[in-house]
Amino acid sequence: MIYLDHHSTTPCDPLVVQAMLPWLTESFGNPHSSHAAGREAAEAINRSLDTIATCLGVPASSLVITSGATEANNLAIRGTCLHPRQKRRHIITAATEHPAVLDVVSDLGKQGFRISVLPVDSLGHIDLNQLADSIDDDTAIVSIMWANNEIGTVAPIKAIAKICHDQGTILHSDATQTLGRMPINVQDSDVDLVSFSAHKCYGPKGTGILVAGNGNRRVRLRPQIVGGGQQNQLRSGTMAPASIVAMATAVSGATTDVSDQAGRLNQLRDSLWFGLLDQIDGLTLHGPALDSADRLAGNLNFSVPLIEGEAWMAATPEVAFSTGSACSDVSDKPSHVLSAIGLSESAARQSVRFGIGRTNTPDEIQRAIELLAKSHARVSAAR
Ligand SMILES: Cc1ncc(COP(=O)(O)O)c(C=O)c1O
Repeated sequence: MIYLDHHSTTPCDPLVVQAMLPWLTESFGNPHSSHAAGREAAEAINRSLDTIATCLGVPASSLVITSGATEANNLAIRGTCLHPRQKRRHIITAATEHPAVLDVVSDLGKQGFRISVLPVDSLGHIDLNQLADSIDDDTAIVSIMWANNEIGTVAPIKAIAKICHDQGTILHSDATQTLGRMPINVQDSDVDLVSFSAHKCYGPKGTGILVAGNGNRRVRLRPQIVGGGQQNQLRSGTMAPASIVAMATAVSGATTDVSDQAGRLNQLRDSLWFGLLDQIDGLTLHGPALDSADRLAGNLNFSVPLIEGEAWMAATPEVAFSTGSACSDVSDKPSHVLSAIGLSESAARQSVRFGIGRTNTPDEIQRAIELLAKSHARVSAAR
């Protein structure tokens, strides 16, 4: 299997596994216990939070550990909107957000919040003037993703944060896809709430981060999970030292020499794209140009003529790629992201997404091109 679906998930880095194992077996104390075993686990958590904070450029006190980006998005958006002192009732987001934002916003819509979903242009960008015009005195939060998980559009997040702050509202950004693909400094970007997920950057599944307040501005969140009051009451439940140590190791790996990592992903992505273009006529790229700074490293999304992406995938079991985000894979609907950038339903169904990862090699890419070209010829001939 040649795995080219790293936007969906990544393998755990062996260094990550090595770092987490002792915290499952030898040093298994509850970090909230006051005996020596508990204190040892709590210290490991504190060291890990310091590492993550340094890597992301935020104070450690702003980190809330969650079960992943889905929970982080829920805490950021619901937590802001449902805070007892929140008087504002308007939320702004964009049409290409992940369901972990869109469904949260739509649920709040059912609870009486006014929702504005901004359209995007053919490359997946919102119009910044339209954003500015949409914010009013009642806007509680704007949520715009840092980088899109399907077509790789990178948002001008610092400019978006400025518009939000100039007009007196706060910005949440789902940055799940960014780590290991582009440099990130949350404090410098001035985004107020930022979500991440460990399994997208070679950490374990089931662990994520919400940066809540970047040191520049205070945010108020109503907890979404209550109980023992851990994490300053913001997210109750016993903290998981092994997962947090693992996530710190993963985040550290994903933020070290990230420009070099991104350059390597792009080289492999470009070989894949130009190799496929040589072999298959009529491919249409979706999202920003491959050499544009607005495109996430390693991301490729395009439509193929004549056949549906699902049929191509089924005919190429040796290569793991996808027809959209892993979450919309459960429904039969064409990708909402591709519809938002203006694709017809049939063009969206003919689209596929590849995500190059750290462990892919040039040989794998060459082999994938051969397999994909052969299966494409086979499936289109059988039509
Ligand atoms: C942009 C984006 N946001 C949120 C998520 C959800 O992450 P998790 O399943 O780890 O909660 C994903 C995962 O596909 C994603 O790509």
